[in-house]
Amino acid sequence: MCSIIGYIGDEPAAPVLVKGLKRMEYRGYDSVGVATFSGNQISIRKGVGKVMEVNNRVKLDTLSGTVGIGHTRWATHGGVTDINAHPHPSSSGNIAIVHNGIIENYVELKKELQEKEYTFKSETDSEVIANLLQYNFDQTKEIKKSVMQTVSKFKGNFAFVAVFENGTLAAARFHEPLIVGIRKDGYFVSSDVLGFIEYTDEVIYPDNRECLIINSSGIQMFDFDGNQVQHQITKISKELADTYKGDYAHFTLKEISEQPVTIMRAGENTKLELDLLTEFVKHAKNLYVTGSGTSYNAALVAKHLLSKYAKIKIEPIISSEVQFSSNYFDHQSILIALSQSGESADVLEAVNIAKKDGAKIISITNIMTSSLVHASSISVGLNCGPEIGVAATKSFTSQLAILYKITDKLCEGRIGLDFGKVSEVMKTIISDHSKIKEIAKKLKDISDIYVLGRGIHYPIALEASLKLKELIYIHAEGLPGGELKHGPLALMDSSVYVIIINPNDSTYVDTLSSAHEIKARGAKIIGISDKPNDVYDYWIEIPSINEALYPLIEIIPVQLLSYYAALEKNTDPDYPRNLAKSVTVK
Ligand code: AGP
Ligand code: GLU
Repeated sequence: MCSIIGYIGDEPAAPVLVKGLKRMEYRGYDSVGVATFSGNQISIRKGVGKVMEVNNRVKLDTLSGTVGIGHTRWATHGGVTDINAHPHPSSSGNIAIVHNGIIENYVELKKELQEKEYTFKSETDSEVIANLLQYNFDQTKEIKKSVMQTVSKFKGNFAFVAVFENGTLAAARFHEPLIVGIRKDGYFVSSDVLGFIEYTDEVIYPDNRECLIINSSGIQMFDFDGNQVQHQITKISKELADTYKGDYAHFTLKEISEQPVTIMRAGENTKLELDLLTEFVKHAKNLYVTGSGTSYNAALVAKHLLSKYAKIKIEPIISSEVQFSSNYFDHQSILIALSQSGESADVLEAVNIAKKDGAKIISITNIMTSSLVHASSISVGLNCGPEIGVAATKSFTSQLAILYKITDKLCEGRIGLDFGKVSEVMKTIISDHSKIKEIAKKLKDISDIYVLGRGIHYPIALEASLKLKELIYIHAEGLPGGELKHGPLALMDSSVYVIIINPNDSTYVDTLSSAHEIKARGAKIIGISDKPNDVYDYWIEIPSINEALYPLIEIIPVQLLSYYAALEKNTDPDYPRNLAKSVTVK
């Protein structure tokens, strides 16, 4: 839920690390820090804030030395303070670490180390890594042994990089991502290839339960039992480097605007896998689909699509709920896991449980090198390019595009899929923001908003409310239209806004009635529809399209509305408070 990076090479480490952290900042961004090794000592600078703010304040990038580690934090244990920011030194200052994850048994370990006179400055779980490494190194005087003894004590998921007093880097991973980048004159070890993409495209993916040690004589890799391991060097696509905002003010706006192109590319890099996936879905006895957040909302759309058009039953399950319900899966089950990042801990855990129970795992993800892909029999790529904005936008419509492709194959084209037309319609919506910008001004000072949709538009209403929560920090709730009279109508008064997702399809008439019921209680109505109606205080027009395809387009006005309302409220649309792009902790 953060980024860690280490570098060892010929260049000054600090500027290289700061650049890498900046690119990986979307993973977690409450604090940042860098430690370098130079002149036989480790120096640390760190603080609360985003990478460039902290760098301007404490000059992270002027630390000297050609070996170093860096971190952007998404706090799990201990407040967002300068002291709790990483890197954390051991009490002697001879080792410093950066950590991604949670050391669940840190309280016991901390107590044991304190009894041995090792001191602690922060409230984090992570500081025990530094002191336990130090303790084991003090006992063994060997880096490899000290790393192995240290990892054997931890409960919980972690990846860490440590710099030792002689300028050696050591790293380990257990259910958190860690990738090695190889250069002619050095090495990177990082949570994400974006940490070093401009320096090399040659990488090694260490497996789970593996450690590595890098010094001037090279790299050694071994598993948690001490056995040497070897991995092939892989080349990654330079497209991953496409993480610049270009002329856009924010990544979020850029990513919203890319959707007419990205939906066309969905699954194009994995056509064979898409065909296989479709065959498996067709013959599955028990079919499940899982995801978190936006990806779960896409899973709900899958249920509607497959049942309506292909007469196939699929059960959506929120990933974090899988562990609390037993007996979902057996040898005849197929679990489709949806995840933009392929690294969400909740999704990976759901997949592990399903696998143990004998299910076959199929994934749909944007990151074809992710842990989810490694855990799956088949993976289909969203192929929508890096999504940096923390609020998912283009990855959602790409997930839908793949689900539409699967359904279309299974119902022999009855769905009338026409991505060219969808793309045109998306372009039309995106071409004029003026009305949406005006409506966004109204949302600036409200505290409650509801989004109402029926049938397949209900998951879209849920996704719309997630965007509003994330980007403008207000209470937003998705409602299935018919449920209004069973409770939520009591909430409607003149302080409330309701967005009505009301395309001209079989849900239109009923949803219009809901709009009237709400309006009669004084609430303001924002209608998203291809048909105007007096009931709407504000009408956001969407072009008409084949009835089955509205879900692919109707989320875009709400993405834009949330984005512009964020600008009105002066919140950062790319990096909403308290969130992170890739949630690798449970
Ligand atoms: C979406 O806007 C959120 N940032 C979040 O809910 C996200 O969809 C969720 O964390 C799942 O991420 P994943 O798709 O990478 O697994
Ligand atoms: N658990 C550690 C902390 O709270 C690491 C969190 C992270 O992954 O950023 O500092």
